[in-house]
Amino acid sequence: MRVIKTIASLRAELTEWRARADHIAFVPTMGNLHAGHLKLVDEAKSRAQRVVVSIFVNPLQFNDQNDFRSYPSTFTEDSDKLVQNNVDIVFFPEVGEIYSHGTEHHTTITVPDISDILCGAHRPGHFTGVATVVNKLFNIVQPDIALFGEKDYQQLLVIRRMVSDLALPVEIVGIPTVREQDGLALSSRNSYLTADERQHAPRLYQALMHAKARIEQGARDFHSLENDALMGLQQGGFRPEYVSVCRADNLAPAGPEDTDLVILAAAWLGKARLIDNVRVALPPVAQDRV
Ligand code: PAF
Repeated sequence: MRVIKTIASLRAELTEWRARADHIAFVPTMGNLHAGHLKLVDEAKSRAQRVVVSIFVNPLQFNDQNDFRSYPSTFTEDSDKLVQNNVDIVFFPEVGEIYSHGTEHHTTITVPDISDILCGAHRPGHFTGVATVVNKLFNIVQPDIALFGEKDYQQLLVIRRMVSDLALPVEIVGIPTVREQDGLALSSRNSYLTADERQHAPRLYQALMHAKARIEQGARDFHSLENDALMGLQQGGFRPEYVSVCRADNLAPAGPEDTDLVILAAAWLGKARLIDNVRVALPPVAQDRV
């Protein structure tokens, strides 16, 4: 596995691969890799001849600079894991390599509509930071496919929309969330939980699964479902930001006739901001009810 730090050296290597018509898969990460990232790598390997992983903690997507500064940096462990998983190249640039004019003066990409709701409403500028860096990484790597976890469901939709709007020649593949045995979605931020908080953390997923079960049993007052889930989380020691029942295709608030839904939540537990979501696929509404 090669560790490459500059855009110029990466481009030189990729030019050789392209000359051989190798199919290239790309997994962008911010490091601190866990089994969820390795699942993306595994899927990438099964779909392409070459796999590039980037490790770049992107300052532009952190609205809280303390959060950026304390984001775990574990390059040695990450790189061992990627070697074991037969990754071809790790792209590990410095901030100045990606933002040569500084983060304040960089051209940005803003995906309208879905960037300012849900997580975007609580983290202003976050999705502009994500779209900007992912667009730049796509331009550098020029992959055939790129893989993202469905745990960051809103991020996945922002990226899909950017790729579609800008006609970027890359296929976006969403990979199902990897969970601990007790249901907690794997996340780099789980390491911020104390032992006691870790015991309580699966309640976020349980709250989503409970809301899903109620919808499957016929509940259609999504507003009161959301409020019940928020209250349950508060009683369980969380500081919830939102629980929202949305249309899965565009994250608009779901209506009673919608059948392809996603329930999303973000909640703080101690110092960890946890996010999670579950999909709900309902049978089509009978014509006489429409
Ligand atoms: O999901 C992440 O780890 C980041 O948001 C991403 C996609 C690597 C962009 O920095």
